[in-house]
Amino acid sequence: MSFVEPGAPADLARDVRAGLESTFGRTATVVGRAPGRVNLIGEHTDYNAGLCLPLALPHATYAAVAPREDGRVRIASRQELEPWEGSREDLASASGWAAYVAGVLWALREAGHDVPGVDVFVDGTVPLGAGLSSSAALECSVAVAVADLLGIETTPDARRALATACMRAESEVAGAPTGGMDQTVSLLAEAGAALLIDFEDHETRPVPLPLHDAGLALLVTDTRVSHALVDGGYASRRQDCEDAVDRLGVRSLRHADLAAVEALDDERVRRRARHVVTEIERVRATAAALDAGDWQEVGRQFLASHVSMRDDFEISCPELDTVVQTAVEAGAVGARMTGGGFGGSAISLVPVERLEAVVRAVDTAFVAAGYRAPAHLRAQASAAAAVL
Ligand code: GLA
Repeated sequence: MSFVEPGAPADLARDVRAGLESTFGRTATVVGRAPGRVNLIGEHTDYNAGLCLPLALPHATYAAVAPREDGRVRIASRQELEPWEGSREDLASASGWAAYVAGVLWALREAGHDVPGVDVFVDGTVPLGAGLSSSAALECSVAVAVADLLGIETTPDARRALATACMRAESEVAGAPTGGMDQTVSLLAEAGAALLIDFEDHETRPVPLPLHDAGLALLVTDTRVSHALVDGGYASRRQDCEDAVDRLGVRSLRHADLAAVEALDDERVRRRARHVVTEIERVRATAAALDAGDWQEVGRQFLASHVSMRDDFEISCPELDTVVQTAVEAGAVGARMTGGGFGGSAISLVPVERLEAVVRAVDTAFVAAGYRAPAHLRAQASAAAAVL
């Protein structure tokens, strides 16, 4: 079995410093590290003032940063060919991958911070385009590094403010209208726990995830079907949710009741709203099942969530459905697609002794269907972003 490995933080920090040195001839003042995430359950609930339950991955993005006196900003990465350079006044007009970095600098300035010019070099092990929030990891790695340069202490409130800046970067500069789950978990996660996030009041609660003690593994399978949040599917689902809110006359779908949703006359809007309302309940049920150590119930909630995303919200795809079905047939306790949808990754909760069989079954099913070979990684609930 081969898994995408997270790499050792000390080695990756050394490499990213070396990258800054060789690209720009600068010595890093600080290195920020921020994790990617995988969501256990609660999809498309964040922008509906709902609940979700993600965890930080051990796979992370590393940003080496050196301040400059002249107000210029230079951005480069080991993964991308196109570096970006401009002045602090140009930050909001950056495009492509560099917009996620420039956008954070812009948003911190908008929040009133005196952000200096900087040279930034990034590297990391969060698979790109796999639905594992490589973009949030990129934003948050830059945010914690620059916060350190500015002497901002990383109290929970300061971390919430950084998450807000990262969200603004993503929606207003990179142009991806996401809901905040990814940045929140990258900045507020705790090792060994999933993070229950309530988007009504932005409260968070760690929910312990003792996978190892339960003899379970959380397998993440990247279908390698590329999803792009800047494409229309995500935005159109948000639009349908807003439509439902208007028709129901509620503040948000968090406050909609299922009977009223079932009475909506537009069939598509009804199904979209039903997904959100029932998904919020499934997050509650999953957190309660984890508190009670009832993994079978967690597995049932995963499967119900997948069906809801496939049939009501219509964000799955044949590759994701294949992972879920095959994993369960091969012994997973439960499985579901995770993240924004239209490709990306699925998660499976698997007894450790069945892990190899599940991976093999999924690989075989992909060959049989003529799909591109998937990539797998093992998720462990890891710590939040920090400077190294
Ligand atoms: C993407 C977005 C998140 C969230 C999920 C769906 O990952 O970035 O804000 O909406 O999709 O749950």
